[in-house]
Amino acid sequence: MTGSRTSEAPFVYEELVGRWEGLREGAPVRYDEQRKTWLVTDHENVAQVLSDPKAFSSDFSGLTPTQEDFEVFRQGNFVGMDPPRHRTLRALVSQGFTPRVVTDLEPRIHAITEELLDAVDDQDQFDAVDALAYPLPIIVIAELLGIPVSDRPLFQEWATTLFGGDDLGDMLDMADIERALKAIAPTVREMNGYFLDHIRHHRKNPGDDLTSKLIGAEAEGTRLSDQEIVGFVALLLVAGHITTTALLGNALLCFDRHPDTVAPLRADPGLLPRTAEEVLRFLPPFPELGRRTTREVELSGAVIPADALVTAHLGAANRDRARFADAGTFDPARDPNPHLTFGHGIHFCFGAPLARLEARIALRLLFDRFSDLAVADRDAVVTQNPAVIVGARHLPLRVRR
Ligand code: HEM
Repeated sequence: MTGSRTSEAPFVYEELVGRWEGLREGAPVRYDEQRKTWLVTDHENVAQVLSDPKAFSSDFSGLTPTQEDFEVFRQGNFVGMDPPRHRTLRALVSQGFTPRVVTDLEPRIHAITEELLDAVDDQDQFDAVDALAYPLPIIVIAELLGIPVSDRPLFQEWATTLFGGDDLGDMLDMADIERALKAIAPTVREMNGYFLDHIRHHRKNPGDDLTSKLIGAEAEGTRLSDQEIVGFVALLLVAGHITTTALLGNALLCFDRHPDTVAPLRADPGLLPRTAEEVLRFLPPFPELGRRTTREVELSGAVIPADALVTAHLGAANRDRARFADAGTFDPARDPNPHLTFGHGIHFCFGAPLARLEARIALRLLFDRFSDLAVADRDAVVTQNPAVIVGARHLPLRVRR
């Protein structure tokens, strides 16, 4: 295994990463008084929590405040469901979102990335998030769903509002969550209306897009209702957009921090997939996953009562020394790399192949086009609220051709 030399510059996530390391010092399963949650921080127990939906439910619908507008998205939003409903919906959606659909996207992802980079071709410095990392995944999802190009700005606007960013506070209590839901309610109404029309149109005029495939999908004798398709689209917007944006930005931040990793990647782009996995391990965009116990559970000697909140900490588990040699070192050659950044078990990220493909293409084309890439002004890097997502909101990049 080869570690990497670090630049002198302070790493924008130094403190956060230090906090995750610190979490690993206590008992691997313990109650966090301040956050009122059971914190699980080691690889084995995090994987255990995520692979046992009978004991650790993903359904928070009884706990979170009910807002009528938001309910319309709940129906197809299977990340917040348990079996058997989760299995049925995931099976239906899988019929439309096949591995083939993802690989067929490769030329389009390539072309979209080139177009986005063409738009900044005359600049020596640009914001890598605004120019590439933010628009790329949202355009890909819009294309996948057959959204007309003229409606893309609307689509992009919704994604931004749904995600909410910094206005969400620490999302620690119900008041925060209620406030956030209220703020996005008008967008939810608008999106709901738009997508119901979009689906009706595709029912009459089926095409080759994901929307038409979702309409036609059938499993276990059922089909997706229009409202379930809308809920799934909302899930794609939240789960599939900003996470991929974060991954691309995090890769650039890791390269900036570990400059000696770049030359081998330029020489052999075949190394990119493994490097992307290490970026994912090092800086997981969703560092924490929430679950709720359905009964009393014992985990590594800790007794968690029924109906308790549990936080499976991916950021800490990805640094478990029992699982990763030199866990604190960014090692692009790490192999195997059993990180938990895409989750584990029945909810394992549905879009992981797409996120990996986008990262591979975007990083490859950045290297092809620019002989040098550097974070222009480290003080100007703006990060998202890390309670919600670990990723840059602004990342000024200086380039040479
Ligand atoms: C689920 C992370 C990209 C769609 C998940 C989960 C994680 C995750 C951790 C599990 C949630 C849980 O267990 O509660 C990520 C990361 C991404 C990424 C880090 C990018 C780097 C994408 C993309 C899409 C997507 C590109 C689709 C276009 C989904 C869906 C689920 C999911 C639909 C729900 C799966 C289920 O509940 O069965 N993702 N994701 N994700 N992701 Fe991703």
